[in-house]
Amino acid sequence: MGIERTFSMIKPDATKRNLTGKIIAKLEEGGLRVVASKRVHWDRAMAEKFYGIHADKPFFGELTEFMSSGPIVMQVLEGENAVLKNREIMGATNPAEADAGTIRKEFAQSLGENSVHGSDSLDNAALEIAMCFSPDELVG
Ligand code: CMP
Repeated sequence: MGIERTFSMIKPDATKRNLTGKIIAKLEEGGLRVVASKRVHWDRAMAEKFYGIHADKPFFGELTEFMSSGPIVMQVLEGENAVLKNREIMGATNPAEADAGTIRKEFAQSLGENSVHGSDSLDNAALEIAMCFSPDELVG
């Protein structure tokens, strides 16, 4: 508990529909602060590296193809209980199960094209942040 940092991504389905600002507004209104931000277009190899933990899953090909299909916005978010808070603001992975008012309920199109990613633990947050940012890019 206490002040944490977590990793967040706005996915290609959301950047394509020009939802970047609306999603960041929800994160900020929820009490999280953006302390690093980068808009990039991953190649397939970077998507496969980032999601390596899912390499044996049947949806790995679909996931990595989608995540390299357009621009994404990578962010580091800081705040009280940031890992859990970010997951609350995002809503359930499957938008059909997401609570009203969450990012995925409002914006996600499907389980695969679900608009945002957020770290599921403090340990994974540290790994994902280190994979995508250098320490001098965190300017909170
Ligand atoms: P994310 O939080 O980015 O972590 C892994 C992603 O895999 C998840 O969000 C979903 O977008 C995606 N995912 C999970 N299950 C499936 C599935 N059955 N089919 C397609 N994509 C999936």
